This record gives sequence, structure tokens and C-alpha cells, in this order.
Amino acid sequence: MILSIDQGTTGTTAFVFASNGDLIGRSYSELPNYYPRPGWVEQRADEIWQVTLRVCAAALERAGIGATDLTAIGITNQRETTILWDRQTGAPVCPAIVWQCRRSADICEELARAGKGDWLRERTGLVLDAYFSASKLQWLFRDSPELLARARAGDLCFGTVDSWLIWKMSGGRAHLTDHTNASRTLLYNLEQKRWDPELLEVFGCPQLQESGLLPEVMPSAGHFADTDPESFLGATVPICGVAGDQQAALFGQGCTRPGDIKNTYGTGCFMLAFAGAERPPLPQGLLATIACDVAGGPAYAIEGAVFTGGSAVQWLRDEMGLIQQAAETEVIAQSVPNTRGVYLVPAFSGLGAPHWDPSARGTVCGLSRGAGRAELVRATLESIAYQSDELAQLMAEALGVPISHMRVDGGASANNFLMQFQADISALRVERPRQIESTAVGAALLAGIGAGVWTPGELPECLLEIERDFLPKMAGAQREELLSGWRRAVAACRAF
Ligand code: G3P
Repeated sequence: MILSIDQGTTGTTAFVFASNGDLIGRSYSELPNYYPRPGWVEQRADEIWQVTLRVCAAALERAGIGATDLTAIGITNQRETTILWDRQTGAPVCPAIVWQCRRSADICEELARAGKGDWLRERTGLVLDAYFSASKLQWLFRDSPELLARARAGDLCFGTVDSWLIWKMSGGRAHLTDHTNASRTLLYNLEQKRWDPELLEVFGCPQLQESGLLPEVMPSAGHFADTDPESFLGATVPICGVAGDQQAALFGQGCTRPGDIKNTYGTGCFMLAFAGAERPPLPQGLLATIACDVAGGPAYAIEGAVFTGGSAVQWLRDEMGLIQQAAETEVIAQSVPNTRGVYLVPAFSGLGAPHWDPSARGTVCGLSRGAGRAELVRATLESIAYQSDELAQLMAEALGVPISHMRVDGGASANNFLMQFQADISALRVERPRQIESTAVGAALLAGIGAGVWTPGELPECLLEIERDFLPKMAGAQREELLSGWRRAVAACRAF
């Protein structure tokens, strides 16, 4: 039995899988996010841990087993979110700064003005943007010289959420991460596959020998640490799989041949293509990053990120009060033939690929008197597909071949209207697996491989099966017209 923990931006889900791949227990709980200023997003590291512990216990209870029955644990997580804690007490020393938080945009601008952008891109495969951990960490150190002094003295640990959970689960014994998570920090050298002292210097972080601030980087499948029974549900269980959520989903979708693509519709949308063992040329507008590779040494992936995807639907629910549950949007969108020319660009945290514009803000365009709730709901779903389509176009350019099909997963991939619109607007076949929680599947597979339950060549079929294909049906002229409206809406949101 394998416990797979998916610690995401808006909540944690724990899954218990049996060795034949059957899902035998599951539990989810939301995680509070805090928005202290426009563009800022925070979480509390202690709440991340408490919510995670709670859903693990509940999933095990639903599966009718105890933690001592587990063979291994896999962890997958929201990436880039930056946590600092005290090495002695294990207490967080600041809020967790969430990947969506724009507070360090000025630091990135400063570095860009100093001409560091291309150099950083070459070294890390990323772009100089507040999305990634390094500028968040620098912001914390600038905000509090005391924190910097404590970090220099070796009193603090930095980690993304995977490291934090491993630390808590192991009772403070292990300070570790994996290559996929490390590759999202802007502190990791993509060529040498290790922390890079020059990057630490650029971001004003203490060097490793001096501070031990950064976690040790491990392969995604293997023995990370054992849980401490006093900290984790009374059991000693090996943690054998760790990966950032998007790379875990790529693996969990069986995308292990160069050119295989998946798009995850979570809080944001993340499209990744597996690129193989050779570092790919820097893709225009996209990121080069590390993929999980269990067959020796980290492999590479190409990635495009949309910052606001499924969370735009949450906005409809929580801020606008237009729906009560995300699932309603499918029927509401289908109740009207089109949006009457309404476009929503949900640039609530700026725009990611291909625009990389931190100052863009959410915009609704094209309102006419007849446009109402259904049109806005439909425009919201369509915006998720338009943004993903921008990624697909870039991905095709980066791979040098048109994309004919794409695997999809994540909560919003259950929305049939959205999946059909994606197939139509991108003119490609959309393949949805039976188990759309590919992120958790990926972490479970990594843990199972790391613990020797499965081998990479013999993974449980039921976890990778396709449930439904969506084929493109829209006429080319209509697609072009819709896309041109979208481009005008994006221009409007950037001009604001
Ligand atoms: O890079 C951020 C990403 O890992 C967050 O994923 O699933 O929490 O939207 P999710």
C-alpha cells in the first residue's frame, strides 16, 4: 500500500493506492491562502503541515488501514513556494511565500536592469520572474536583516513544500528535496544539476558551506527518509518518491518519450513536454526544467505555465458569487451558444508564458447589455483553454512539430465543456485518463518504484488508462475569429 500526498496551492489531497493500482482511500482538505496586499499571496507553513497530516490520517482511515501498513510514501507539491524555518525548533520564521506572489517583482526588475536576465535563463532554464523561489528568498532577507544573519549563522533551513513536509514527517531529521523541485528555484544549475554558488550570490543568499540553508538534492525515486512515529501517525514509513506536482503529473501520465505532452488544469495550467536526457535548446517563451527520470539521472522537460487556470473558477465562486460549486460551470457554459463576444483574461497574478508580464491584471472585455452570468461563466472556462492554447502553440514551435494530441489531468479536466473547447480552439485531440489525479499517480508510482514495488517497465495499467478522447470539431474560420478576439483582450489587460 502506498500513500501519495499531493500538497497543492489550494489544498492537500492524500490517496492510498494498493499495489495493483486500485485507489482504496482518499481525503482532501482546503488550505487557507492569504492576500495581505494586491498581488501578494501567502500561506502558513504550519497550516500546510496540519492540513497534510489530517488528510493523511483520514485517507488511511477510509482505506481501512493504519500507517504501519504502508510500504512507502510519495510526496508531490506546489512548487516554488518558499518556506524558511528554524533548524532547532522547526518553527517557520515567516509566512510561506506562494509561487503566485508578486512581492519580489522589483528585485527581478533590478536584476533585469543589471543585465542578468539572459545569463540566468541560460544557467537555470527559467526566466527572471517573481514566480520562482530565489527572489522571494532575497525579499525575505532584505525585509529582515535579522533573518539573513540567522541564515548566515546556519540557524535556518530553506525549502519548497516538499522539503518542509519531509522535515516535519521525519521529525526534523532530514532536510532534502529532489531535482524537479530544485530546478524551480532559480538557484539550481540546469547543466550541472546542482545548487549553483554564483546563483546564490546573485540572489544575496548565504553560501551553502557557510549556512547549510538549502536542502540536499536527491533523485525523485529512492529512499529519502523514514517518518518519525512521534511526528507521523505512529509509524516508521520510508518516503520513497518526491517530485514537483507538474513533473509528477508528466510521469503519472506516462509521458516518458521525448515529445509526450500533458496539460494539468489545477490552480494554474501547466503544460509539460518530456524532452529526454539531453538538455533541450532554450525554448522561446517557455521554460526548460527537470523531469522525473527513474532510469538513471535527471531528464529534461519543456514547460509553459499559466498562473490562473482553475482558480479563475474559484474566483467566480468565492469573489463573484456567481456559482456555488465549480462543477456547475459545465452546464451553465453549455446553456448559451457563445459568450456574446465577452472575454475574461484572468491575469490576477500577472501573465505567465508567453507574456511574462507581472503588471497585467484581470480584465473583462466585450460586455454588451445582453451578456450575463452564463456568458461570464463561459468566458471564464474559455479563458483557461485560450491560455493553454498559447502554451500549445509555443510548445509546437519548441518541439519543431505540430501537436496532434495532448493528455490532460487535474480537477478542471473533468469539465467536458472545457475539454471540448480546448480540442476545438487548439485543433488537437485531447486525451483524458480515467484517473485524472495524475499528479498523485505520479508520486505514487515514484514511491512504488523507489520502494521496489514496481519497476519502470511494469507499472499498473489501470493508472494510465484513457477514459475519453475529445476531437476537434470547430471550423478553422471560427477558431481564427475567436483567437483574434482573445489576442485583443490580452492586449487590453496588459495596457491597463
Ligand atoms: O508551479 C506552481 C505549481 O506547482 C502549482 O500547482 O496544482 O497547486 O496549481 P497547483
